[in-house]
Amino acid sequence: MKKELDFLLQDNQRGAMQHIKELLAAQNKKYHIHTYGCQMNTHDSEKLAGLLEEMGYLPADDPKDADLILLNTCCVRDHAEVKVHGNLGALSVHKKSRPGVILGVCGCMMQQEGAAAELVSRFPQVDLVFGTHNVHELPTMLYQVLSGRGKAVEISNDVQGAVIERMPVRRNEAQSAWVTIAYGCNNFCTYCIVPYVRGRERSRTPQAILEEIKALEGQGVKEITLLGQNVNSYGKDIDGMRFAQLLLAIERETSQLMRIRFMTSHPKDLSDELIDVMASSSKVCKQLHLPVQSGSDGILAKMNRRYTRRDYLLLVEKLRHAMPDIGLSTDAIVGFPGETDEDFAQTLELFAQVQFVSAYTFQYSPRRGTPAARMDAPISAAVKKERLARLNTLQKEISAHVHQRMVGKTVTVLADGFNPRSTNMVQGRCDEGYKVTFPGTVQRIGTLTPVTITKARMASLLGEPN
Ligand code: SAH
Ligand code: SF4
Ligand code: F3S
Repeated sequence: MKKELDFLLQDNQRGAMQHIKELLAAQNKKYHIHTYGCQMNTHDSEKLAGLLEEMGYLPADDPKDADLILLNTCCVRDHAEVKVHGNLGALSVHKKSRPGVILGVCGCMMQQEGAAAELVSRFPQVDLVFGTHNVHELPTMLYQVLSGRGKAVEISNDVQGAVIERMPVRRNEAQSAWVTIAYGCNNFCTYCIVPYVRGRERSRTPQAILEEIKALEGQGVKEITLLGQNVNSYGKDIDGMRFAQLLLAIERETSQLMRIRFMTSHPKDLSDELIDVMASSSKVCKQLHLPVQSGSDGILAKMNRRYTRRDYLLLVEKLRHAMPDIGLSTDAIVGFPGETDEDFAQTLELFAQVQFVSAYTFQYSPRRGTPAARMDAPISAAVKKERLARLNTLQKEISAHVHQRMVGKTVTVLADGFNPRSTNMVQGRCDEGYKVTFPGTVQRIGTLTPVTITKARMASLLGEPN
């Protein structure tokens, strides 16, 4: 059985929170969190914000107005790391003119071997450094800094780290919420740093997940997105239910909740049972983010993805058979070591065949400590750039075409706000995940509206309510 810790029972953290609250009382101290990377980090930032607000901090949109600035970092590609270093340089200068500001760096980048020590020596202005397994320890770390006892640096390397329940959360949106169902990843795709910086897969118990979702429902949340690096393997590490059953339990035990989405799905673990549940459920959306990474069998094998091009295409066929309008999106990497023109052509061909609604496409970026970083035949920057441009050009055409095909169809939209360009238009996403804008008033927001699509734009749809 995995370790599960109740945040509310962590006396040291709650004690530190109380001390900080007293220390900061009526001072109107502000915080700003800059988040890089994926939804996992975004959701961690919501927890950090929840902790800070319980301690008396107020949010600041502009870091220049903040007394505490946190950078929640990502290291999935080199590009993400370069951005963090640039920002840290600027903030270090800012701190020289406002020495009282507390500067903190957390997240995946700090979890890499040696990264925290390097950061502290390169940016001595940083006061707080912590890893992905230490989010719940923010109160004690911050108290150490505030009470003048020096820098706080906490990087736990426990890859089986406990699942922390009942942390305060300050959600960014009122109507939609992220709910983590599993932390970490066991897949070790050869290019990927995530298993090293997020630890092994640890599922939350169905009870804890349901308790959180019911509380959200009580607060008026209409749509949840279940999060995990590989939601399809949910539950394999605990005695409980598997992912498809979890979806059914959420559907059964909620009444006000309208929609359930989830990400990410690994193609190798997507079960027939899950396809059946998606197809028959009234709450689980007919949308799937199914990263393919490459269209070439040789590259997929070198990536340790554990499916073939044929497996992937068969899966898409099965999904479309069960849900003809399912909205499919993907991730792909170009320029993996040894990728030939022929391998890349296979990716182009697969994209043309599947017709994704959208795709996140990346140039391969070697990550220190991963097997792919040691592989032969690296691809030059120029070739990677050229391949990425070709893939993006193709996907743009496909996206336009796929959106165009929706014209004339009726979809159900959960409007979440007004269109920023027009006050008599509302917008939201339909079941299949497309962005849809249609004429409507505030009454439409938070409700499900059938909308007939009249026009397609590049990445969104326009329609008329029925
Ligand atoms: N768990 C998710 C997402 C992980 S990271 C999944 O398995 O799909 C998000 C995406 O970043 C990956 O799907 C992959 O396409 C990309 N990515 C990961 N490591 C990368 C690297 N070293 N270089 C380029 N892209 C990478
Ligand atoms: Fe990375 Fe692969 Fe795990 Fe996704 S499934 S997080 S790409 S190792
Ligand atoms: Fe996400 Fe980046 Fe970490 S993609 S899991 S924030 S390395």
